[in-house]
Amino acid sequence: MAKGFTLWFTGLSGAGKSTIAELVGAELEKNEHKVEYLDGDVVRTHLSKGLGFSKEDRDTNIERIGWVASRLTRHGAAVLVSAISPYEETRRHARQMVEQHGEFVEVYVKASVDECARRDVKGLYEKAFSGEIKEFTGVSDPYEEPTSPELAIDTESESPQESAARVLELLAERELASTQVPA
Ligand code: ADX
Repeated sequence: MAKGFTLWFTGLSGAGKSTIAELVGAELEKNEHKVEYLDGDVVRTHLSKGLGFSKEDRDTNIERIGWVASRLTRHGAAVLVSAISPYEETRRHARQMVEQHGEFVEVYVKASVDECARRDVKGLYEKAFSGEIKEFTGVSDPYEEPTSPELAIDTESESPQESAARVLELLAERELASTQVPA
């Protein structure tokens, strides 16, 4: 059975976490990995339904995701988490839970607030700037940058394909996966 691991994509809304996770996951699936996605937007419609965006609720959300990720990692899955996960301490706790069963690979998906607002895929930044949405990460709520992620990706200077390739390279180096995205 393949070694289980969790790839934890953290970064602002719209930075590109889910896009990169999907590209990486598709490659892993081709190579027979059992892949599971835990995407903040999706988790919040099920496991974390009803939670808001206060620090307490975000921490609860991330604790839940970390716990599920650790259980799946235990059974050999490649778990791809995409969640803003703005607080360093809470990410560290998620790491501790996962590391009891497998590797935790933190990937900081980096794009400036200005760039995310320019992309504004979901139209949320406009609402955050006008004050219609409160406590919006990067605008009116904190984002604590990872201080020592396994990998940092700048999505303003590289394409999602290039970013996915770098993630897969790192997984290959760590002998967690053998796949490479063709250039
Ligand atoms: S986290 O902070 O708890 O990790 P999570 O990744 O689950 O956040 O959810 C973030 C998503 O919720 C965003 O991509 C966005 O679509 C939506 N969202 C709605 N309100 C907010 C807000 N105030 N701050 C950040 N994201 C928000």
